[in-house]
Amino acid sequence: MAKVNDNYLKLPGSYLFSTIGKKVSAFQAANPDKAVIRLGIGDVTQPLAPAIIDALHSAVDEMGNAETFRGYAPDLGYEFLRNAIVENDYKARGCTIEADEIFVSDGAKCDSSNIQEIFSLDNKIAVCDPVYPVYVDSNVMAGRTGTYDTKSETWSDVIYMPCLEENGFAPELPKETPDLIYLCFPNNPTGATITKSQLQEWVDYANKTGAVIIYDAAYEAYISESDVPHSIYECEGARTCAIELKSFSKNAGFTGVRLGYTVIPKELKCGQTALHGLWARRHGTKYNGAPYIVQRAGEAVYSEAGKAQLKKQVAYYMNNAKIIKEGLKDAGFTVSGGVNAPYIWLKTPDKMTSWDFFDYLLEKANVVGTPGSGFGPSGEGYFRLTAFGTYENTLAAIERIKAL
Ligand code: MLT
Repeated sequence: MAKVNDNYLKLPGSYLFSTIGKKVSAFQAANPDKAVIRLGIGDVTQPLAPAIIDALHSAVDEMGNAETFRGYAPDLGYEFLRNAIVENDYKARGCTIEADEIFVSDGAKCDSSNIQEIFSLDNKIAVCDPVYPVYVDSNVMAGRTGTYDTKSETWSDVIYMPCLEENGFAPELPKETPDLIYLCFPNNPTGATITKSQLQEWVDYANKTGAVIIYDAAYEAYISESDVPHSIYECEGARTCAIELKSFSKNAGFTGVRLGYTVIPKELKCGQTALHGLWARRHGTKYNGAPYIVQRAGEAVYSEAGKAQLKKQVAYYMNNAKIIKEGLKDAGFTVSGGVNAPYIWLKTPDKMTSWDFFDYLLEKANVVGTPGSGFGPSGEGYFRLTAFGTYENTLAAIERIKAL
């Protein structure tokens, strides 16, 4: 008789953004006259930049022509894209990364959940608290997290690194030594960042203890301050301890197009085993690559026209971030984030729980955000708003919140 992977049965509730989606749909169905503004999930609203659309059109034409038609993509992704990534995301920042250390994929969400597969089940993970829920949930599904305590909302075999107002929402080196460390900067959900010297401490710590850092840099394009690193490979020694995940969703609006990549340097080893070979084996066996037309669209992100257009798009969202942050401050909220990241992290008023504030905001202002507690116990009493809405909706949402 077939048996299920009962690790799935340990997962409490459904995926955070599915729960929110269901709640909002139910509210909308009960209140069809209300114009709900969604600043919950970090989904983009601006159309793809013209340089990307042009690249998509011409790639589609190539696919309709026998001479230029392409079938399966190469295992690691097309060289034209991997070369553009190396030149722009790494060489331009003084980082040494080779094109054959890049694995092109259909996005950072999949990579961040799949990467744990190449590690032993008895590895202990450390995560920031609050944290992007995919890192923990994917380890739960694999059976690496022990038992769930409903009271503390924590897993027995996970090391939580609280990111609170007191520590500037930056994790401290854990007391217990982890095997895998998930870091995401600029951070989802808090919008906080760490400096290059702070990140260097993590790299040194990982090299000393033999831990591997899984570094999610999906929001790197939103960095505005000079001492904030864009890549972990800006730190000395990162090639022997870090995997980096990158996405085209937030910097180029590919949430519906799907493209990302993972970097595994060849020197990165667990004992004698190079992780590059393991991920290559997994990629080759389980994945057939992002579509050719999407990889051509990704290449256009790095064209001169693409870069100029996307700079404007990022500035558009960051202007929203400023509107949210300043508007909420004026309204008396305690807010952070929104300077190097498209997320604003606010304290709920009057000690309301995160979910109570979610319901209150939905009912009274018809604005959707994300409850901080959905990202982990240290997110309780906090709330996240995204700057990825339209300018008009962002303004309207803040006016509604101010009027409460
Ligand atoms: C978020 O809202 O946290 C993100 O959009 C989720 C994601 O990127 O998968």
